[in-house]
Amino acid sequence: MPQARLIDGKAIAAALRGEIATEVAGIRAASGKVPGLHVVLVGDDPASRVYVASKEKLAVEVGMNSVAHRLPAETTQAALLAKLAELNADDAVDGILVQLPLPKHLDTAAVIDAIDPAKDVDGLHPINAGRLAGGKIDPEQLLVPCTPLGSMLLLKSVLPALAGLEAVVIGRSELVGRPVAQLLLQADCTVTIAHSRTRDLAAVVRRADIVVAAVGRPGFVRGEWIKPGATVIDVGINRLPDGKLTGDVAFAEAAEIAGAITPVPGGVGPMTIACLLRNTLTAFKARRG
Ligand code: GUN
Repeated sequence: MPQARLIDGKAIAAALRGEIATEVAGIRAASGKVPGLHVVLVGDDPASRVYVASKEKLAVEVGMNSVAHRLPAETTQAALLAKLAELNADDAVDGILVQLPLPKHLDTAAVIDAIDPAKDVDGLHPINAGRLAGGKIDPEQLLVPCTPLGSMLLLKSVLPALAGLEAVVIGRSELVGRPVAQLLLQADCTVTIAHSRTRDLAAVVRRADIVVAAVGRPGFVRGEWIKPGATVIDVGINRLPDGKLTGDVAFAEAAEIAGAITPVPGGVGPMTIACLLRNTLTAFKARRG
């Protein structure tokens, strides 16, 4: 039996989407305008198709204008950049997200650089990443990557006072590890970023009041690494050979020791799209609000 409190990402994400829907309805009533989210999918990666369909559906549910641009796998760099230029120039487009990973022949960094930073609802443009790293702007006003933002909202749901806590982030990716570390730092945590070359990872994790696991390896973080009472945010979404989804943390073990833990599925996963919608609303308000 898990002793840890379960952090219900599904419920917290649904509540956030409800708040966004209310705000969008208010904007529509007052101005006749609604935020527009445009998702660009190149090729037919099955997982990406599913994610894009969910983003489209949930954006409609909160009352936004939602458009998916499905481009063929052989789309050229020039054609993709032309599509982004068109979306950048269209005032009705508030948020642009290019679903990753892109087919190998495309230059992902150049594609992200081509998105108007004011419409970069993924928070991946170097200007947005730099603003976050600068630490001078309230993250609420920034376009911050969606999974890190969702992870922080889950963390704050159980730990309202983060200042001074030891946080260990396992993983240093551009999409999750680095931005989540910046957000924890902004919240006055003492932050360690661990990675594949970290020595004695177990000892590093044992110091942590907060563990954020973003490594992409099923069950990699063991229960005995967790400090009793720590809060564990599991960002991993790994598909096992039997088709089941599992996280980066050995859940049954960790739940015996942690104070609070996110399940997989039903933890961080549902927060990602809810935060994408929140970023789209943030971008709308900054551009046209
Ligand atoms: N693919 C998996 N996660 C993400 C994400 O957060 N943003 C984008 N653009 N692509 C993804």
